[in-house]
Amino acid sequence: GASGRVVGVDLVQVKNLPAGAIAIVGDILDPSVATRVQSELGGHADLVTSDLAPKLTGIAARDEARSRELIDCALAFASTMLKPGGAMVTKLFMGAQFKDIVDSFKEHFGSVEVTRTKASRPGSSELYIVARDFRKS
Ligand SMILES: C[S@@+](CC[C@H](N)C(=O)[O-])C[C@H]1O[C@@H](n2cnc3c(N)ncnc32)[C@H](O)[C@@H]1O
Repeated sequence: GASGRVVGVDLVQVKNLPAGAIAIVGDILDPSVATRVQSELGGHADLVTSDLAPKLTGIAARDEARSRELIDCALAFASTMLKPGGAMVTKLFMGAQFKDIVDSFKEHFGSVEVTRTKASRPGSSELYIVARDFRKS
């Protein structure tokens, strides 16, 4: 809505932002970035979304480990940002760590669903976790 506030983070500059949105150029793995997001938001968030993806090397084990690191980091980031009852939507790719990742979301949210979007390329292993009812520990 008109009074909503959106704060994004990416390693690269994001252009053409809508009104009410700002984007920080930074690394989500850098703890000072979370501090900057919190100060820009001026409070806790209703929703955290993550479309984080590493630059692929073509070495499957390495790419999967790096993707997992980014998902773990996004979840830790959301855990500090979200209001109790808040929600998170995260992209992930089907792989050996899929169940572990979903279980890690279940530790923090009352409801966790896994879904696909029509916009994903046919044959893509891209999935989305939709997690609701964040439980603040
Ligand atoms: C699949 S793209 C999505 C970009 C954007 N959401 C879009 O739709 O255009 C993945 C993005 O994750 C960003 N990224 C990868 N590692 C990151 C990190 N450690 N911190 C912040 N952003 C990162 C990349 O720069 C890239 O823009």
